[in-house]
Amino acid sequence: MLPSISSIQPNSRPPLEGKTVVLGVTGSIAAYKAADIASKLVQAGAIVDVILTTAATEFVGTSTFEALTHRPVTTGLWEAHSELSIDHVALALRADCVLIAPATANTLAKLALGISDDPLSATVLATEAPVIVAPAMDADMFASPATQRNVETLIADGVVVAGPADGRLASGLIGKGRLVETATLVGLVRQAIGRRGDYSGLHVIVSAGGTKQPIDPIRFISNRSTGKMGYAIAEAARDRGAKVTLVTAADLPDPAGVSIVRANTVDEMRDAILPASAEADLLVMAAAISDFTPALVSDRKIKKTDSGGMSLELTRVEDFMPLAHGRNLVKVAFAAETNDVEANARAKAVPKGAAFVVANDVSEPGSGFGTETNRVTFVDADGGSEPQPLMGKLDVGHAILDRALPLLTKRLR
Ligand SMILES: Cc1cc2nc3c(=O)[nH]c(=O)nc-3n(C[C@H](O)[C@H](O)[C@H](O)COP(=O)(O)O)c2cc1C
Repeated sequence: MLPSISSIQPNSRPPLEGKTVVLGVTGSIAAYKAADIASKLVQAGAIVDVILTTAATEFVGTSTFEALTHRPVTTGLWEAHSELSIDHVALALRADCVLIAPATANTLAKLALGISDDPLSATVLATEAPVIVAPAMDADMFASPATQRNVETLIADGVVVAGPADGRLASGLIGKGRLVETATLVGLVRQAIGRRGDYSGLHVIVSAGGTKQPIDPIRFISNRSTGKMGYAIAEAARDRGAKVTLVTAADLPDPAGVSIVRANTVDEMRDAILPASAEADLLVMAAAISDFTPALVSDRKIKKTDSGGMSLELTRVEDFMPLAHGRNLVKVAFAAETNDVEANARAKAVPKGAAFVVANDVSEPGSGFGTETNRVTFVDADGGSEPQPLMGKLDVGHAILDRALPLLTKRLR
């Protein structure tokens, strides 16, 4: 699986900076994957305190986690020198989020019953931080009535249960029992920690990617948009507590904690975005929506001939952004331009009904399609413009949300 967008871009604000994540690792064969989870949480800026159950220490050693997190690892309630030997709820109080990955059937059962006979279960019982568990086990163990009952109890108690995923299991069988991907878990941690952020209670729709207009069943015309900018905005909004719908034509890994709607063509984008906008607070149109589409779409592959080329007639596609309405909807448009960037962007603001346009000179190095960074200018319909520095795309996402937030709150007053 590809790394998530925001884990590879040079943003000034690591998304989990200053946050403490308690990572509980239990005695599943998938425990080795917890090293990658610890590493990615550290890369996202988190302070990571690892607790291994006794069974987990049969699979993985403390040194790996100590080296990755630069912090002591807890394995027992009574171990000498452990912070927990003098204060068994120390980690519970410090945690901004507790993530148990992988979570065994045994640990799920203990948590559902409130048993607290080891450092991990005691921490979960004592913490007020959000708790995420990622079960990993044999498919029959997961499907058993006892485990299902325990999972339901945990969900009712407010615990986020991530997975398990379908796929190949350690037994060699295929089934539902795999630990979900690291990127998903890091995304869920970010969402859990940001749940009371300044966008909480708001619904943000983001469009991303380049639409693909079919020529025949094999071919299409499209553009160079990769979707990275839109995905970064969606992740930024999720991290600030928004409910996020990402309408996407892009081929990128799904961000966790975001509703994904696949929409490859302009028609699919329009059909997904217009009804959803009626109930949304903010619409950010970062997708590169085709301006032209083949006049005729062949239902069979167009065969090449030995001589001569082929001409393709294109018709204009109607821009549907002006039609997006909601009781209190604030709209933000994007303008990818190669020349007269500001003037072209300004000309788009009024017809689209956009509060502002994010103008983007895609001919500039480090800016635009496929890059990890972007340099944009916020352009208002009335002539105002605010050039932004070159930033990681997640930072650009936050800057857009920072600028939109006062407009949203003014509107709700
Ligand atoms: C080789 C091996 C692999 C195991 N894999 C899993 C697993 O993937 N999931 C699970 O729920 N239990 C698994 N178990 C069983 C747990 O290790 C056992 O229930 C243990 O008591 C869990 O303790 P803990 O929840 O405190 O970590 C495995 C046991 C062995 C010996």
